[in-house]
Amino acid sequence: MLDFVTRPQDLDPIEIASRDEISALQFHRMKRSLKHCYENSPFYRQRFDEHGVHPEDLKTLSDLSKFPFTTKTDLRDTYPFGMFAVPREQLVRIHGSSGTTGKPTVVGYTKHDIDVWADVVARSIRASGGRPGDIVHVAYGYGLFTGGLGAHYGAERLGCTVVPISGGMTERQVTLMNDFKPRIIMVTPSYMLSILDEFRRQGIDPRESSIEVGIFGAEPWTNAMRSEIEQAFNMHAVDIYGLSEVMGPGVANECVETKDGLHVWEDHFYPEIIDPVTGAVLPDGELGELVFTTLTKEGLPMVRYRTRDLTRLLPGTARSMRRIEKITGRSDDMIILRGVNVFPTQIEEQILKCGGLAPHFQIELTRAGRMDNMIVHVECAADSTDAAARAQSAKELAHHIKSVVGISTKIEVQDPTSIARSEGKAKRVVDNRPKT
Ligand code: DLL
Repeated sequence: MLDFVTRPQDLDPIEIASRDEISALQFHRMKRSLKHCYENSPFYRQRFDEHGVHPEDLKTLSDLSKFPFTTKTDLRDTYPFGMFAVPREQLVRIHGSSGTTGKPTVVGYTKHDIDVWADVVARSIRASGGRPGDIVHVAYGYGLFTGGLGAHYGAERLGCTVVPISGGMTERQVTLMNDFKPRIIMVTPSYMLSILDEFRRQGIDPRESSIEVGIFGAEPWTNAMRSEIEQAFNMHAVDIYGLSEVMGPGVANECVETKDGLHVWEDHFYPEIIDPVTGAVLPDGELGELVFTTLTKEGLPMVRYRTRDLTRLLPGTARSMRRIEKITGRSDDMIILRGVNVFPTQIEEQILKCGGLAPHFQIELTRAGRMDNMIVHVECAADSTDAAARAQSAKELAHHIKSVVGISTKIEVQDPTSIARSEGKAKRVVDNRPKT
């Protein structure tokens, strides 16, 4: 694999500015953004008034904690266009979150917002090891989902040649990768596994592919999965984070030279970690819910948006901007099984430790009487299909989950390709417990 050298002259100066410079810029922008919210969004004006706060109350960055949170419910309650801080005519684009039920959450962007978004995604691709002139295969879905178009505009901004293939039609993805020889792929990690299957099905060695860097996000994935994909493709796998309410992909990104968590592009997005129960701001280093305040957004500025994603804030390393640790999961995805909190990423980690298993899995929750049970459906590796090997893998996995996560599970080791493949975000949990 290639080594990457980051030359300071290739970076935006703010990426390696001093903390004082970053804080000064954040304060200036935060003040301006709160004022914009108060003056141009009836929603925020009412919220601030109800809480007895005014943009003038922000005397230091930490005064942000006096301001009220914003949640997904606020966006739902004001559906579709009620939270915008500019007249609808000034929005050049609408996106929506992939809500599984009911109506999507609608977000909107001014021309300037799209411009900033392209800049932060370009910065993210560069942090991942991308350079002007690279061919970038974008297999995130295009449409209301922000993944495809967000990646697309950022790659163009960096000066890359974009292949806007979107998700799906996996056979064709592999054909085009062979023909066009992209250096970069942007896709969910779970769909990358489907692409890996397809390489093997077509008898093509994935390690011989042209891909040097994968920029993976939109769903939680573990360092164990990173090693799995890096080894399979002989490539670098780098984490990209974002959410539509705050912007889309490119809110934070790992640096390929360190792969030690994601640098938050703090000149545009101000992070806080809070206690999800009390709402109190936690010091850097502590695990809690990630909250963002946008500093430069015009169309849909966000004040203290509660992401529900659990992580911690860490000091900068390859860049001056702070990092978030790889996301453990969303509080909504947390399974509480017989009193123990479990995230699908913890199960993923244990599966990847076991011999004889493939990285395709789904968690099923059932209930017998008053007892909740977890069944982990996982595929056997193509070279470990016989009954004895499967039984051994199941035993090993159950043991790892019991000793590391602390719960007893039933393991079903299934045939290769029997678990539904993802073309975007994987569905890791199927809840078959009766609704009470
Ligand atoms: O998933 C934006 C995106 C597209 C990010 C492509 C990265 C790449 P939403 O559909 O609004 O937006 O979903 C946002 O996805 O709150 C997290 O729970 C999860 N998520 C996104 N990136 C990561 C990541 C896009 N790198 C929600 N690790 C977020 C873990 C992630 N979870």
